[in-house]
Amino acid sequence: MSRMQSALLETEKDTYADVEAYVRAIGSAVSKGQPNVGVKLRLMGEVRFPIVSYVTKRPSAVRGTIEIDLELDASGSVDRVCKTLELDIATACPCTLRYSRLSGARDLGLAKPDSMPPTFTHSQPGRVRMRVEPNLGARDVGFTDMIQAAGTGTHLREMVLKRPDEHALVERIHRRPQFAEDVVRSVAMELAAYADEETSIEVSAVLDESIHPHKAAASIAGLARNFWQTDASATVGAPLIVNCRSEPWRVERRAFTEPFEKKNLERFAARYGNPSSKDCNATVWPIQPRTSLGTFSETDGEARLHTDAQYRADPESSFVLVCEKPAKEGGTSILLPAEKARAIALDHLGKDGLDALTQPLWQWTVPEVFRKPNGHTVSPVAPVFEAGGAMRWRFDNLAVLSDELMDIAAAFDLAINTSDAVVQVDLEAGDVLHCDNRYALHGRTTFTDRARLLYRIRLT
Ligand SMILES: [Fe+2]
Repeated sequence: MSRMQSALLETEKDTYADVEAYVRAIGSAVSKGQPNVGVKLRLMGEVRFPIVSYVTKRPSAVRGTIEIDLELDASGSVDRVCKTLELDIATACPCTLRYSRLSGARDLGLAKPDSMPPTFTHSQPGRVRMRVEPNLGARDVGFTDMIQAAGTGTHLREMVLKRPDEHALVERIHRRPQFAEDVVRSVAMELAAYADEETSIEVSAVLDESIHPHKAAASIAGLARNFWQTDASATVGAPLIVNCRSEPWRVERRAFTEPFEKKNLERFAARYGNPSSKDCNATVWPIQPRTSLGTFSETDGEARLHTDAQYRADPESSFVLVCEKPAKEGGTSILLPAEKARAIALDHLGKDGLDALTQPLWQWTVPEVFRKPNGHTVSPVAPVFEAGGAMRWRFDNLAVLSDELMDIAAAFDLAINTSDAVVQVDLEAGDVLHCDNRYALHGRTTFTDRARLLYRIRLT
């Protein structure tokens, strides 16, 4: 019988104060099962949290999914605990609400549109995901705290709502309309109120734009103390990261201060998302010259503007670059927002050229180093520009194309790489670049210093 099955049988006969205590008991049983160098556990489940409805005070519930990551060292002591909670939420679109207020005020002849009560807008049902990791010995942040933070920071969908409760919820949603970015900022600040200063907090939200054929997404990450600031503009200052169309990358100077070891890099990157190991089963990938003909991360040549993993059906949403040693000369990072790339395409290729780039006509060859035995050699067909503003691009590994598409691709690649809109960033030792892989292109200039060393961690 496996250690895990033994541990489950051993622990199921007891009752526990909460689900975290249950996970700890399983971890302890696994650890005692046989000699080991450590234990890693992840418990995932669907849950219903009982609440009382707002007006009628009837029993109700909010639905969610939880994850608890637990790590024990070789002696069975807890090394790390991380909790994740995802809940159903709803918001109202601020733009349409503002517009309908202005429109209503005009129709009624009111001089002050803001004196109009909230009128109609379209709803945005979605999910908010909160991830909290306190340091060992720090104040605990429980699932109850997380529900409270989400309930205060945004609007939770409830399972039982009588008419007065429905009305109250819809009214609250309209009195505080929120974009996805508002949701993550607000919930992160509420969560921070329960946490010690060094507790790592990440919040992401995905909203269905009910009248548009796309979703809106945002995420934010930082230490609790970063969210304690009362100045709203300072709150979104470094080292917090917002993953969205409006701010597709951020540079954090001297943010990585630990030894450049895989474990530290992985843990650091986990502040921004879930490290991905889809390529080469490695989460931390060194960017260092080691061949003359490999993919960008293995050579010292220029890397023209591209998105990462464009050869996959579902590329990672962002990545972190941590610099250990900059090149003596060159190796400068270059960046371009996707919306600028689209504007450049329209400028240089006209409407027909841009149309071709928005059609699913494009395929990319999987670099040999990332190819699995008997795996795909080219990506599925996809558009360069997606309807929601995201994009994927890399010129040098485009799969076989018609001459007409090849001309469009070459002209587009030249136009973006020579654009004045390209932003240059020199990373120094300890600097971190967090970049959205859907709403920004990135690359680097050529260099000759083979000691240049950066680490890339792709994130989902
Ligand atoms: Fe890249």
